[in-house]
Amino acid sequence: MISIQVNGEQRDVEIDGDTPLLWVLRDVLAMTGTKFGCGIAQCGACTVHIDGVPTRSCRLPVSQVGDRAVTTIEGVGATSAGRRIQKAWLDLEVIQCGYCQSGQIMAASALLATNPSPDDADIDAAMSGNICRCGTYVRIREGIKQAARHG
Ligand code: FES
Ligand code: FES
Repeated sequence: MISIQVNGEQRDVEIDGDTPLLWVLRDVLAMTGTKFGCGIAQCGACTVHIDGVPTRSCRLPVSQVGDRAVTTIEGVGATSAGRRIQKAWLDLEVIQCGYCQSGQIMAASALLATNPSPDDADIDAAMSGNICRCGTYVRIREGIKQAARHG
């Protein structure tokens, strides 16, 4: 039995400790907002926050989470930065197919939580690991800036 804290709730899961956190979230806890893209920490689709730090859940064994707080796309709207990012995403219609966007929102909200007014270089550095095959990068950058202005 492994116990993890997800979006403020303590959850007990009976699972092999080597199982990546992504599959615990999706298959055991039925939180399917976090996406599987590459499985090798290269695309960012599976990004969650671990104690506020954007983390690739596809490569993190659940046994290594410990007592750190996991936040997923289902819970990030409860934070100020997450709420502002989600609003900006809707206002600017950032999303195209949507597959990468949970990860994009998690990376963007982690950036905004630590840097209230990021410039282009800050945004590029924070978001460079999140791939969007639809090429929504220009709207993502604008969305982060709008969310920052509304802080
Ligand atoms: S699925 Fe985790 S980084 Fe691609
Ligand atoms: S919106 Fe389609 S992959 Fe990013």
